[in-house]
Amino acid sequence: MRLLIMLTLLLSSQLLATENATTCKGCHPTIYTEFQNSFHKKSSIKEDKVHSAMWNLHPAKAKGNYKKCAECHTPNNTVHEGITCVSCHSITSIENHSTANKNIYESKPKTLYSAEKGSEDKKVIYQEKSSWLGMIKETTGSPYHNIDYTNKGYYTGKMCMGCHSHKQNSHDFDVCRTEIEGAKSDESNCITCHMPQIQGSSTSIKKTKTHAFHSFAGVRNAPQMLSKHINLAFKQSTNGFELTVHNDTPHALLSHPLRVVELKTVLKRDGKKEELKIHTFVRTIGHNGKPSMPWLANQVIKDTMIKANEKRMVAFDTVLKSGDELEVILGYRIINSVSAKKLGLEKEKELVEFTPLKRAYFSVE
Ligand code: HEC
Ligand code: HEC
Ligand code: HEC
Ligand code: HEC
Ligand code: HEC
Repeated sequence: MRLLIMLTLLLSSQLLATENATTCKGCHPTIYTEFQNSFHKKSSIKEDKVHSAMWNLHPAKAKGNYKKCAECHTPNNTVHEGITCVSCHSITSIENHSTANKNIYESKPKTLYSAEKGSEDKKVIYQEKSSWLGMIKETTGSPYHNIDYTNKGYYTGKMCMGCHSHKQNSHDFDVCRTEIEGAKSDESNCITCHMPQIQGSSTSIKKTKTHAFHSFAGVRNAPQMLSKHINLAFKQSTNGFELTVHNDTPHALLSHPLRVVELKTVLKRDGKKEELKIHTFVRTIGHNGKPSMPWLANQVIKDTMIKANEKRMVAFDTVLKSGDELEVILGYRIINSVSAKKLGLEKEKELVEFTPLKRAYFSVE
């Protein structure tokens, strides 16, 4: 009975487009909770300190024109609400443009898109079947929405590319670009890496063993879930040694120009620790030969970022001897120190301090 009342209430609520995640919480509690921690949920100026600090310096702010950011950061057009469940699950297709791509959204109410192995050609409409003279009720689908499993973009990651493909500023300059190759295959793509299947049911009504991780593993959330896509290798050479970072992903290791990747190496010898040279990898953009905020940039100042599928070799001139041990850590800072000062975020520890992503130990025979 309670369920029936709940369903009636839910079914009579407003149009899908104005709904937020709370509507979905009742039947998708695990996914809902995960989503609360994600930087899709926190993509607005209200919840993301980095986004709001940058917006505060942006020339469009003086004109009160948030539109330039809203398409991707608050697609529901309410400035304080980030990306919602429906922002993603109602994308029908992506339109290509040079400045940034554009999401085309479903206009039919309560029609959501998703992916499910074996259902690639199905559209599921809610049905109740009674058998045994009404004693047993069998249901298929969701009592709240229809599900369309036929959209290929939800299997290949193409549905991510409306927001993630690229962004150019008013100088026709690429602020960032994520290679489309990452969103082409069914086996390995944006979704399989950033939303891996983990334990727990995707709905409370129809139990499943696993569901797609909705906190979205990334730089600001659960980076350890992605560490298996980075590999570190060691090789001794005649006058030192080499470390190789293998970026086993279809995009540059990090894409946002605020980031900096660091490779730290500690040598343990005779019970003592010595920190060797730290190598950094960045893509710095700017103008007149100097780093600048993204909207002013018209040139790449420096690009040492590890590229898609690249194996980057780094040489050290420390000659190793038998018994030596190396601890190698690849990690990153969310904001480099120059930008942190410009944005007034230099005191925000989790943004400016080093976050480890991959660790490896090597010993010399
Ligand atoms: C075409 C879609 C798009 C538009 C338009 C857009 N962004 Fe973003 N933005 C993204 C994506 C996708 C990311 C995450 C990418 C990444 O981390 O590399 C992001 C990340 C950011 C970040 C980094 C946040 C963090 O977690 O560190 C900042 C800051 C930011 N955007 C500011 C802005 C501002 C300010 C505007 C408007 C002037 C804007 N963006 C417009 C798509 C967009
Ligand atoms: C009244 C309960 C209920 C509500 C409310 C509800 N759902 Fe569902 N949803 C379900 C059920 C049950 C299924 C599983 C249907 C099936 O697999 O046959 C489902 C399936 C889904 C799927 C596809 C799952 C798959 O197998 O790929 C998506 C996506 C989804 N829901 C999103 C949402 C979003 C977004 C909202 C909020 C706007 C929402 N749901 C609200 C009950 C609900
Ligand atoms: C093989 C696994 C893999 C695939 C496929 C993949 N990624 Fe990543 N992605 C990673 C790893 C590893 C990182 C770096 C570690 C981290 O973010 O903590 C990363 C980082 C990111 C970041 C953060 C970048 C930044 O500077 O903040 C975004 C955004 C992202 N990926 C989006 C995508 C999109 C969109 C696609 C599909 C086109 C995709 N990824 C495909 C593994 C993958
Ligand atoms: C950034 C885009 C995005 C957002 C935001 C998002 N989802 Fe999803 N969701 C996806 C994609 C893509 C899949 C398909 C994953 C797969 O099955 O491989 C998915 C799968 C699902 C499924 C299917 C079951 C599963 O785990 O495989 C359900 C249910 C679901 N989402 C509900 C929600 C709810 C509820 C919210 C908000 C609390 C939400 N989603 C927010 C992209 C998103
Ligand atoms: C409606 C636009 C939009 C769509 C669709 C979208 N994203 Fe994002 N994504 C963003 C924005 C904006 C950010 C940055 C939010 C912030 O940090 O303020 C982001 C951030 C991320 C991050 C970085 C999270 C972190 O912790 O650093 C990852 C990973 C990511 N998205 C993956 C995906 C994947 C995978 C898909 C497709 C299933 C997807 N996104 C679909 C807009 C979008």
